[in-house]
Amino acid sequence: MIISIALIWAVVVGFCCLLWLALGIRHRQPGEPAVENGFIPYLGCALQFGANPLQFLRSRQKKYGHIFTCKIAGQYIHFLCDPFSYHSVIRQGRHLDWRKFHFATSVKAFGHDSFDPRHGHTTENLHQTFLKTLQGEALPSLIETMMGHLQDVMLRSDTLSPSKDHWEVDGIFAFCYKVMFESGYLTLFGKEFGEDKCQARQAAQKALVLNALENFKEFDKIFPALVAGLPIHVFKSAYSARENLAKTMHAENLSKRKNVSDLISMRMILNDSLSTFNDLSKARTHVALLWASQANTLPATFWSLFYMIRSPDALKAACEEVQKVLKDSGLTVDPSDPTLKLTRDQLDNMPVLDSIIKEAMRLSSASMNVRVAKEDFLLHLDNQEAYHIRKDDVIALYPPMLHYDPEIYEDPCEYKFDRFLDEMGQEKTTFYRSGRRLRYFYMPFGSGVTKCPGRFFAVYEIKQFLSLVLSYFDMELLDPAIKVPPLDQSRAGLGILQPTYDVDFRYKLKSNH
Ligand code: HEM
Repeated sequence: MIISIALIWAVVVGFCCLLWLALGIRHRQPGEPAVENGFIPYLGCALQFGANPLQFLRSRQKKYGHIFTCKIAGQYIHFLCDPFSYHSVIRQGRHLDWRKFHFATSVKAFGHDSFDPRHGHTTENLHQTFLKTLQGEALPSLIETMMGHLQDVMLRSDTLSPSKDHWEVDGIFAFCYKVMFESGYLTLFGKEFGEDKCQARQAAQKALVLNALENFKEFDKIFPALVAGLPIHVFKSAYSARENLAKTMHAENLSKRKNVSDLISMRMILNDSLSTFNDLSKARTHVALLWASQANTLPATFWSLFYMIRSPDALKAACEEVQKVLKDSGLTVDPSDPTLKLTRDQLDNMPVLDSIIKEAMRLSSASMNVRVAKEDFLLHLDNQEAYHIRKDDVIALYPPMLHYDPEIYEDPCEYKFDRFLDEMGQEKTTFYRSGRRLRYFYMPFGSGVTKCPGRFFAVYEIKQFLSLVLSYFDMELLDPAIKVPPLDQSRAGLGILQPTYDVDFRYKLKSNH
């Protein structure tokens, strides 16, 4: 009896395996890239990829060449590894859809109705809204507001309470999180009580921000799982964190706030005039923007500050640059009246800080650039080869393949603060591979039409933050010989990776003021 049950099970399992082999895996057709189906149904190569994406892709590149296909979480993804062929994917070809993946991911993670105009919930051109409110003429006011909030948070509120007489100890990530989250949040979403100086209302304002920070952290933790397709209801506390954030962003709450950015005001108007979203859906679209504005900026600020403090040469060069800009502009640093203003031009005139930030992001960014094939088509590569791509397959570029390429960046794992400076001390833009100049060599913000619309503001924010901590504080690592914390690979593909653990430093107000 036991033997016959075992036999039945063996037959069933065997049949399932045969069915999977026949239907569940892709067989490479002539003219297609080499394909790896992986051994686990549905997941395919997801676990191997997730463990160390760069190592995985490099080993497949060695085996298959410039392009190959992997099944990952039910999706066939063609990884293109030759930077000279990137252009064929990045230029907006008629065969590739850049919106489908982005819109679907946002719906999965934030739970709002689709922004894809083809789904009929809105006619807003979201891309245009972002360009209008985050770039060009929108920047000076964003910069000015951010500068004010950064100094309030660092010196006026009780977030840090630094002193001249004794060192404060904190984790660098914790420090960046507190300062950048509050400043960035208030810059985009304004203040509940405006500039009201009443202590009780100031305290209430602070509590709201801290609440938002805690909810953001809780939700952000499970973001990779949501993108991978797990439903948010599996994560009870993250779900309520997201919904708490959404509650604060209902129109009736947002409309009470003062100094709301053009981005959020315009999105509120367009949500009302061009969409059929209900109130909750509208609020969730604002949560999506809060996430986009913070999730990468926070770790990027951490890595910039960490590497800068860890490298005495970088710290010295950065201090000199900031002091020179302040001196040339006739600005004096006074922690008892923290009202420094740096204009866009002054921030543009800081190539050392620029290089410090770029190098930090080169080492920590892992954002996957993704396009979906609208139809079967032939993808032409730079080396004259062409490959058949099937409709609905994904084509992906993984920038760490560039950022850690020793042919492009000598000693790629080392932090060199001046890597992005030329002989004249200005921004370096020429990088080569195999003697050919590269068009794409640095891609933390994505590429082409999907490139991050907040990228200019993001770099200004981090430059402002670094300029201010350099102006107001003395800073030291508690352990100057500390190793660089490993990158948390659970977010690979999604942007700037966080450190797996925080690093302690100490700071105090400069005594020469
Ligand atoms: C260091 C900081 C940042 C990094 C590394 C970063 C990176 C990225 C990346 C990789 C994308 C996706 C691009 C693609 O799929 O090709 C993106 C999208 C986006 N980012 Fe950023 N970002 C940063 C900061 C910001 C900030 C500060 C804002 C707003 C204030 C912002 C707003 C957005 C928005 C709205 C999108 C979605 C664009 C769309 O779907 O059309 N980002 N970002």
